[in-house]
Amino acid sequence: MKTNKHFRKVGTFTLVIASVFVVTVMVAQPIFAKTQSDFFRLDSSGELVRPTDYRSWVYVGTPVTPNDMNGGNAPFPEFHNVYIDPVSYQEYKQTGKFRDGTIMIKELVSVGSKQAVSGKGYFQGEFIGLEATIKSSKHFPKEPGNWAYFSFTNKEGGMVKKKAMAFPTSACNACHASAAKDDFVFTQYYPVLRAAKNAKMNPENRDERAAIQPPEVPPVALLPAEWKGTTSTPENIQTDIPTKPRALFDWLKSQKYQSFAAKEFKAHPGRGPHTEFGLPVRVFMNDVIATSKKQGKKQLPVNSCVVKEMFTKAGDLQGWAVMIKTNDDSNSGKGWFWYEVTSATDPSKIAAIGNGVPGCMGCHAAGRDMVLTSFPLK
Ligand code: HEC
Ligand code: HEC
Repeated sequence: MKTNKHFRKVGTFTLVIASVFVVTVMVAQPIFAKTQSDFFRLDSSGELVRPTDYRSWVYVGTPVTPNDMNGGNAPFPEFHNVYIDPVSYQEYKQTGKFRDGTIMIKELVSVGSKQAVSGKGYFQGEFIGLEATIKSSKHFPKEPGNWAYFSFTNKEGGMVKKKAMAFPTSACNACHASAAKDDFVFTQYYPVLRAAKNAKMNPENRDERAAIQPPEVPPVALLPAEWKGTTSTPENIQTDIPTKPRALFDWLKSQKYQSFAAKEFKAHPGRGPHTEFGLPVRVFMNDVIATSKKQGKKQLPVNSCVVKEMFTKAGDLQGWAVMIKTNDDSNSGKGWFWYEVTSATDPSKIAAIGNGVPGCMGCHAAGRDMVLTSFPLK
């Protein structure tokens, strides 16, 4: 009896608190929407504390790049369930912009079953990882677009870390800068955000939305704004393939790489920013790589060389992208020499040259020892 009464009291009390809370939230919402870091917290050493309630945020889409469609070894073989914090979603709906303070979460989910009563397909398995990106001019003034990238994924047993430090710019930001549709975010793969952009009304309301003109999407810069194509190459480098600009150009022009051990059967639309997305490219890998791959080695040896021919729409050769391994340790890209020239006749059209060109390494960090094309070549 006594406890019952006690509970009743607590109950009433909670109700009062709850209604005060509701009123406060309703009144305070505009202020709430303006505060910047509501949905994330950095600790005193600048590490991002893993957000825990993101599955109740706004869900925007699930890209999947399964192994079966990527030669058996996709760099990211799992589903990516992507969420945005609710205040940033509202603002994106109103203004079509990611507010300062946006946080997006990408939860990695393994491919589980490939067969259900509905048919064959890809069905989600287990949660295996967690990544985040935050736009904040206050915390990340030096990052391009003020976006910083984090991973809580701990490869062991799908456990996630409690905190994560932002990656260096070259590891994540560059690829997002060059290939993502809207302000470093891959909205082209998130139907919810595509529908919301500039909708200025409930995007779930199809009839009303139809009256709205699709917003102009600004052209995406192919290379990061802070693109710097030249870095130094250590003097004492001994490689079989020349690394001095003129000698390398002449070597490419001689097309000696065409007798490399491994080559793609024919040109195919490029997925990289080299010259232009979608133009034909063809990749060649030398004997050093072929031998090392057959031995099942993960790190490629010194003298590994990959050449990518780049063609115009009409099929004329218009340049090459080259990677040559100069050190045993790939040192997140500094152990590779990078070169790109955007003409097959004019050696001065160098887009990048040197060891560890940051703009090149961003995308390539996702590869196996920096190489994105999977082996054996097809
Ligand atoms: C090779 C290019 C590439 C690199 C490098 C890259 N990403 Fe992404 N990222 C993508 C693509 C493509 C998507 C959207 C589709 C998907 O998830 O597969 C994406 C989406 C994301 C998203 C969801 C929000 C958004 O911006 O669209 C997060 C978070 C993210 N990546 C984190 C990271 C982190 C952390 C790193 C560095 C460890 C990284 N990315 C490096 C290509 C890249
Ligand atoms: C926006 C992402 C991106 C950037 C930046 C980038 N690449 Fe690539 N690169 C790719 C992709 C994707 C491939 C796979 C083949 C294709 O589809 O073009 C590739 C392939 C290559 C290859 C063939 C070997 C491989 O990894 O598959 C070479 C060599 C290469 N790139 C060199 C460079 C150089 C040099 C730079 C800097 C000037 C550079 N890349 C910058 C995305 C990128």
